[in-house]
Amino acid sequence: MMQPTLLAVLLGFSAVAVAAAVSPASAQRRHDPATVARVDALLARMTVEEKVGQMTQLTIGVVAAEGTPQRDSVRIDPAKLREALVNRHVGSLLNVVGGSLTLDGWHALIGQVQDVATRETRLGIPVLYGIDFVHGANYTRGGTLFPHNLGLAATFDVDLARTAGEVTGDEALASGLPWNFAPVLDVGRLPLFPRFYETFGEDPLVTATLGGAAVRGMQRSGRVAATLKHYLAYSIPRSGRDRTPADVTPREVREIFLPPFAQAVREGARTVMVNSGEIDGEPVHASRYWLTDVLRGELGFDGVIVTDWEDIYFLHTRHRVAPTIKDAVRMAVDAGIDVSMSPSDYRFTDALIELVREGTIPESRLDESVRRILLLKAELGLLDAPHPDPAHRRLFATEASVRSAREAARRSITLLKNDGGILPLRRDARILVTGPAAASLTALNGGWTYTWQGTDASHFPEEPRTLLEAMLRRGSDVRYVAGSGFTQAGDLGAALDAAKNADVVVVAVGEDAYSEWVGNIDDLTLPEPQLRLIEAVQATGTPVVLVLVEGRPRVISRVADRARGIVMAYWPGMYGGDAIADVLFGEVNPSGKLPFTYPRHPNALATYDHRYTETTNNDFGRGPGGFNPQWEFGHGLSYTTYAYRDLRLGSPSIGPADSLAVRVTVANTGARAGRETVLLFTRQHYASVTPSMRRLRAFRTVELQPGESRELTFTIAADDLRFVARDGRRVLEPGAFDVMVGGLTGTFHVTAGGTR
Ligand code: BGC
Repeated sequence: MMQPTLLAVLLGFSAVAVAAAVSPASAQRRHDPATVARVDALLARMTVEEKVGQMTQLTIGVVAAEGTPQRDSVRIDPAKLREALVNRHVGSLLNVVGGSLTLDGWHALIGQVQDVATRETRLGIPVLYGIDFVHGANYTRGGTLFPHNLGLAATFDVDLARTAGEVTGDEALASGLPWNFAPVLDVGRLPLFPRFYETFGEDPLVTATLGGAAVRGMQRSGRVAATLKHYLAYSIPRSGRDRTPADVTPREVREIFLPPFAQAVREGARTVMVNSGEIDGEPVHASRYWLTDVLRGELGFDGVIVTDWEDIYFLHTRHRVAPTIKDAVRMAVDAGIDVSMSPSDYRFTDALIELVREGTIPESRLDESVRRILLLKAELGLLDAPHPDPAHRRLFATEASVRSAREAARRSITLLKNDGGILPLRRDARILVTGPAAASLTALNGGWTYTWQGTDASHFPEEPRTLLEAMLRRGSDVRYVAGSGFTQAGDLGAALDAAKNADVVVVAVGEDAYSEWVGNIDDLTLPEPQLRLIEAVQATGTPVVLVLVEGRPRVISRVADRARGIVMAYWPGMYGGDAIADVLFGEVNPSGKLPFTYPRHPNALATYDHRYTETTNNDFGRGPGGFNPQWEFGHGLSYTTYAYRDLRLGSPSIGPADSLAVRVTVANTGARAGRETVLLFTRQHYASVTPSMRRLRAFRTVELQPGESRELTFTIAADDLRFVARDGRRVLEPGAFDVMVGGLTGTFHVTAGGTR
């Protein structure tokens, strides 16, 4: 039931009128005039302290009772909560304390918070609570957990990404949480980066398309706000380590990293979180250019900009561009932030009040941010229904949601190698399962699972299966030996003995869960103990199938050649064990494709859209071979085979306002039904900025029965062929282009260009 709050009653608005004013998420959001009037009336009554409070976000730990276990539910210290909400006017909270809560726990917590906010504060403005549901409802016990974005991207399936967004948004709503800090729209260009798995891979189009769909899905109820993060170029730190400088050119930022944010803004995303790092020496939290000129001016974003964790203070303590905390606050507010994820104290709050009082920051600047924050609260329905609605519980972990998470996991699994048809496995084969990822649920789910790091197995439900359990259910003779830890050596002798008596060895290797900087590494190579285990079982002569359960591509070139089969599972989420086993035993015909370039060497990290000079070898540019990854972007095998033929272009040339129709026929030439993702690339022969060897321009998935073929038509607009010139503008240059699909190439010309 929607209850009118004290605020609504005071202001004379009925819940019904406001419900009508809550507009659904749309690409071109128009704020309802009645909502705007309501927010402005509220704003007019607010003190400076109340305004600054609305711009402050605290982590829930600040108001939690000390010394009590914070499992299942959070115990609040009422005095601390009152200090935050009543005395300091804090408008937003986030996070968990000891990890995931039950649905009841969330409802009780949010209820308690909103009771104080709406009944005890002067204006009764509800709190906006934020959470990181990054691969499903990962902080609510029993929530539906999907593969992380990297695995989702391997499906290249826009509908699946949208569904994952819908389920996540709906389960956030069911938990009483209206603000989700997802999706990550950073483009994963650097596998060292410990948040690689949170990205949709290395291609901007895939990131924009799947990320945009996720936003649309997540916000479909109109009651949950998505957050585009981390704006901008967070994922390309030169050191590979989290929150370190991205020394990337503004041109590249616009070419690669900006388009997904632009797309998601068009999809109606309500909030944006800022990159904790810096671009070309300028911390993004202090960048008026990126936050205001580009995000608001060029992209037209009119929602709320939230900082990342403690990042305003870091302008002083880490980036050292601000001599004091007060300078840091001034810089970030000048740059354009609306909400400071402070998150553990009131230094931001105090400094901002002081800056306004002394006239350094005009109060009108606060009004801009607070207006946006209150509009967000109003449009999410919080002003009228701040408490979790028990009726929304029915949206939680439904059968359909679980089905879609299972489907996403199955569809993400990517078959990288299958020599001599070692896969699928026979059910009656003598199978040894070994390796550190085989019996681990934490590794299947990765970071952000029940706890920040995802490593506390005690939060996990009983029912989902590890890969080993899934294998035991399917095979008639499956044995298990641990073999090795993720980073520590194990009993190789036992693995060796068992391997000798097996028909095939499945070695599940990779990475256990981590989040953010905790996942920093100095070497992309798979840790030595795991390589030793693989080499040991390979030495027995028994065929070896590797299963890679990892958040980023760890280099395995030392063992890849001798592996008969290799399956990439990414971090597939709660249903990953079943999904991998389904692929290994052939119940599912694999259809995932790599959404990134899998490196062969730790220092050879060129992406698929590299330039020509990156392909040449050390022989004065005469020979190729400089680009030699383990597997290319888009690589992924199937238990059936496909053939591409009859590539036909609608016209040999197009003008700058035209589109080109590209037709191609795809045939299933094998014996099994399958799902093939068709990737269409273009390449410009010559351009004033060195052109990429190829750029993905379109993709589509088709299901084909054995012997079936289908003609697909793609439409490529000349506008899609623009690139960012050094002056930052998007230019189309006339000349010859290749279009490449499934090994076929055609050529066409663009007759005239132009700049925008
Ligand atoms: C992360 C963000 C996250 C925030 C709140 C930060 O450390 O970088 O992605 O949304 O914490 O938990």
